[in-house]
Amino acid sequence: MDVDLLVHSAAQVCVIPPTAGGPQRGEQLGELGIIPDGAVAIKERQVVAVGPTAEVRSQVRARRELDAAGKVVVPGFVDPHTHLVWHGDRAAEFEQRIAGATYMEIMAAGGGIMSTVRATRSVSVPQLIRELKQRLDRHLAHGATTVEVKTGYGLETAAELRLLEAVVMAGRTHPLTVVPTFLGAHAIPASYQGRAEAYVTLVIEEMLPAVAEKSRRLGLSAPPFCDVFCERGAFDLSQTERILRAAKSLGFPLKVHVDEFAPLGGTRLAVELGATSADHLVTTPPEDIAALGNSETIAVSLPCTPFGLGQCDYTPAQAILAAGGALALATDCNPGTAWCHSMPFAIALACRYLRLTPRQALAAATLNAAFAVGLGHKVGSLSPGYDGDLLILDMPDYRHLGYRFGDNPVLTVVKQGRVVWERAR
Ligand code: NIG
Ligand code: FE
Repeated sequence: MDVDLLVHSAAQVCVIPPTAGGPQRGEQLGELGIIPDGAVAIKERQVVAVGPTAEVRSQVRARRELDAAGKVVVPGFVDPHTHLVWHGDRAAEFEQRIAGATYMEIMAAGGGIMSTVRATRSVSVPQLIRELKQRLDRHLAHGATTVEVKTGYGLETAAELRLLEAVVMAGRTHPLTVVPTFLGAHAIPASYQGRAEAYVTLVIEEMLPAVAEKSRRLGLSAPPFCDVFCERGAFDLSQTERILRAAKSLGFPLKVHVDEFAPLGGTRLAVELGATSADHLVTTPPEDIAALGNSETIAVSLPCTPFGLGQCDYTPAQAILAAGGALALATDCNPGTAWCHSMPFAIALACRYLRLTPRQALAAATLNAAFAVGLGHKVGSLSPGYDGDLLILDMPDYRHLGYRFGDNPVLTVVKQGRVVWERAR
């Protein structure tokens, strides 16, 4: 068989096969399907063969070859939770937090998300696209080949639509796959202070239909994800439920920010509504962990966020796994709590604070993360039929992921069979 690309002689190829076609749940997490002296062949954007180099070589004639001797080959990382479209920065707030102010105090005083909203509303769509693509470049250089991006720094209908447009257009002109999410319910904007219900009504009656219409005009085959920041000081449980039910009835798949600071019951709501993912999960109570474990909802942990805030509480990952949950990792990259473009750094944190082994963290950052954005049958694994998205990592053994940190281990990024990034020599 003629193929477009053969990556061969890798010290290890980590295939990360799905479990019965689904994510790796509970104690199954960490099944890597390691092939020593391994090879991957890609044809017409998809993996067509994976196995020992000698075996794959005997089956294919390749137009291009990459020698991965002494290196590790893994699927491209999937980052299923980011807020990458914004303008400006919050370095001054970082300094205030170091001096003792809390994230929610700064937000209640009109800073935080609202300060990024003000900056973001002031720039044009082309500028938003330019800045977003520069951030996507950084994600790609750290090995992400699929990235979810949320709106949420517009918080008025026209501004939210502009952010959605920027996300979709950036995705069309960047090698990364971009998955859009509408997060109109990210904060109560200043002009609605004390009138949260009125803002919720605006989201439901004006924004959701406008976003559905805009996504049709942008040529999307379905509405984007709809997400809500369910939190004290943001949207309470009943407001979250109203928004998510309305979104669901319009065909939006769902995601929810839950239990980041206060446990409001958002996790159980996410499960009840069949949300694709429940994200953050720091203060989640045991009953909600049990509900999550019995559901299809992916548990997305964002360890860069407590780290970025200098906090000590992380996702109770071991309890989620013991309950049979499907755990995924993401960066949460945003200008407030976690400006981090590196999935390898999220993995390093998860190994320490979630007590994931490197093999568990790797599966959580690839296959399970793909299921968290509804793409678990297309990306996140090197099984035949999956997209040819892979990384050559500068390490002799996959366990160096997590073990080493603060340095970029990525040598080469392949997206759908094409080399899209290489470390400068
Ligand atoms: O996921 N929690 C809400 N949203 C982001 C923070 C956004 C911001 O501070 O700008 C998060 O941590
Ligand atoms: Fe977030």
